Amino acid sequence: MARWLAWTATVTLLAATAGCGDDFEPPAAPDRGVIGLAMPTKASTRWIGDGENMVKQFELLGYRTTMQYADDDVQRQVDQIDDMVGAKVKALVVGAIDGTALKSVLGKAAQAGIPVIAYDRLIRDTGDVAYYATFDNFKVGVEQAGAIVDGLELRTARGPFNLELFAGSPDDNNATFFFNGAMSVLKPYLSAGKLVVRSGETKFAEVATMRWDGAVAQKRMARLLRSDYGNARVDAVLSPYDGISRGILTALEEAGYGARGRALPVLTGQDAELESVKLIAAGRQTETVYKDTRELAKVAVQMTNAVLTGEEPLVNDTEQYHNGVEAVPTFLLQPVNVDRSNYKRVLVDGGYYTADQIAAS
Ligand code: GAL
Repeated sequence: MARWLAWTATVTLLAATAGCGDDFEPPAAPDRGVIGLAMPTKASTRWIGDGENMVKQFELLGYRTTMQYADDDVQRQVDQIDDMVGAKVKALVVGAIDGTALKSVLGKAAQAGIPVIAYDRLIRDTGDVAYYATFDNFKVGVEQAGAIVDGLELRTARGPFNLELFAGSPDDNNATFFFNGAMSVLKPYLSAGKLVVRSGETKFAEVATMRWDGAVAQKRMARLLRSDYGNARVDAVLSPYDGISRGILTALEEAGYGARGRALPVLTGQDAELESVKLIAAGRQTETVYKDTRELAKVAVQMTNAVLTGEEPLVNDTEQYHNGVEAVPTFLLQPVNVDRSNYKRVLVDGGYYTADQIAAS
């Protein structure tokens, strides 16, 4: 960082002494080598944004990047990381598919002296993760459950209301954090009988959705509606991620919700994906938890740069994210609850989407 600041200061000084900006050509940024970026999937738009943002920011600091997406294929991601290690990248930033599957390849990275930053998802069962950049994942779940409490007015309404639960991929450490965060809010209402899960499926293992796949969630929701609802209605659905929420919404609408006076349930989400923000604007999804991936990319890039320049990266949590071997020093960003009342202010005024993007069909 200090060296980079010195370099930008030199550029500024040269520009000033050149007198006029017109024929001044800034010196090329120093070449600081290649960073390997291993991303999980392009199936979800957020990961595309995460990757693009990191590439831009690494380039601003004078690094080159090699980035690979693994189509949610665990072995492909292992191979991609293996290739990056073979190519002697300076550092690795990894958004893991299966957080427990990278131990051996990261061992090779460690042997080659390549530091590893875990991006958004914790990498487990290895001592070879230097730092972790993510959002407060427990709080994401708290926000989602809060949307259900508010949407059903649970604090004052008598109920009982019918709720169904969905969780994320069992191989992603984040999924349990989201679920535990949400259950910390919902449990008292479940114990008091104000919320009822008619399917009886309340354990993480029963409600998890492999690879965060919307089609898997759609099938499960359709099954629950068929087998447990009859004439009863589902009043709220906890969903941990927008892609899953869209699958659930399809199942609900196919079963007649949202038509002929049959209101849709409260439906949560995460990531503020454009398709889902449109659904929120249209009143078909209740909320999403927005995580500004531009900020996450910045944190990961700064962490990597600090490690490579021998400085201490900034962290704000050294306890919560124990990966089975050690507590990985972490920087947690704050997620933001977004619904129909604030999506314009947060997402449009915040420059994440334009109003036209949201309005486009
Ligand atoms: C999680 C991530 C969520 C969501 C999900 C599906 O790891 O924290 O924000 O993106 O994966 O991609």
